[in-house]
Amino acid sequence: MKILVTGGAGFIGSNFVYYMLENHPEDEILCLDLLTYAGNLQTLDGAMKNPHFRFVKGDIADRAFVFDLFRKEKPDMVVNFAAESHVDRSIENPGIFLQTNILGTGVLMDASREVGVQRYHQISTDEVYGDLPLDRPDLMFTEETPLHTSSPYSSSKAGADLLALAYHRTFGLPVTITRCSNNYGPYHFPEKLIPLIITRALDDQTIPVYGTGANVRDWLYVGDHCSAIDLVLRKGKVGEVYNVGGHNERSNLDVVKTVLRELGKPESLITYVTDRKGHDRRYAIDPTKIETELGWQPTYRFDEGIKVTVAWYLEHKDWWQTILAGDYQDYYEKMYQNR
Ligand SMILES: NC(=O)c1ccc[n+]([C@@H]2O[C@H](COP(=O)([O-])OP(=O)(O)OC[C@H]3O[C@@H](n4cnc5c(N)ncnc54)[C@H](O)[C@@H]3O)[C@@H](O)[C@H]2O)c1
Repeated sequence: MKILVTGGAGFIGSNFVYYMLENHPEDEILCLDLLTYAGNLQTLDGAMKNPHFRFVKGDIADRAFVFDLFRKEKPDMVVNFAAESHVDRSIENPGIFLQTNILGTGVLMDASREVGVQRYHQISTDEVYGDLPLDRPDLMFTEETPLHTSSPYSSSKAGADLLALAYHRTFGLPVTITRCSNNYGPYHFPEKLIPLIITRALDDQTIPVYGTGANVRDWLYVGDHCSAIDLVLRKGKVGEVYNVGGHNERSNLDVVKTVLRELGKPESLITYVTDRKGHDRRYAIDPTKIETELGWQPTYRFDEGIKVTVAWYLEHKDWWQTILAGDYQDYYEKMYQNR
């Protein structure tokens, strides 16, 4: 089986590449990534030596390039992780989110139709469902929850999901979609919450928390997301959406405190900054469908997953220090200074 993994130099995509090389050594993995600020080829160092892995640099929204690649490589499956993925960046510059997340998905699906892939899998997010009130812990997102987005990022992801389902219905493209909650784990770019806390706290720098830190996210260890995608590729029903989450709801403030505790750092590092525009209050995934229909179960509870993640960041300082030395510093100043 030849699997094209787009966005494989990013956080979840790279974890998926390693997961597949380990769990399905008979498969061939071709990674396509544009290496934007979020893509890091160093992350794939460990895969480059594997004869079942190859890397190609390119833009999923570049139609001529993508069609050439598909005609040459004829992938059996496509798993699309490639996306602009940071909500704050989508508020600064929405255009690139529409270009990559919606048009890029359309190009990949057109090329998938032409070569007749066995499966086109779209990686989506729980953010397409909008948010839930903080005072209704009984409410959770199911696959039937209406799409109700808040940011240009989540709107672009919802647009891609609708397009994927339309390609299934209109053209019979064998599409599946997974909508996962917030991920954490190795190779997570240091501008995202958990690595940001770890990398700054290790340096005794302040930890910015939006608003009062009351916003709730549902966290899943990235390896558990990878096992869910793998299961959907092998056993999922085409035309279906599967929610992925592990019932690990935590307020942002709780997350910061848990990580600080794990690092042995004081809570006095926490500083509260002006809230994000339109900040979603709470996300919570109901994963009943993937659990009952496909038998998926997550391996890590939040506290265990955080221990593994903190240990990984301590052992891989070279990886994140290289990123921090780059243009990430400018980005950090722009987002958090004067808030
Ligand atoms: N991070 C999360 O918690 C989370 C949760 C649920 C769903 N998702 C979804 O999972 C996917 C991966 O998220 P992530 O956190 O790994 O993102 P990421 O930002 O770490 O990685 C995205 C990758 O896509 C590449 N890319 C961007 N534009 C491209 C283009 N035009 N052509 C080719 N490659 C391009 C980047 O270079 C990068 O390697 C996204 O679709 C995201 O919406 C993420």
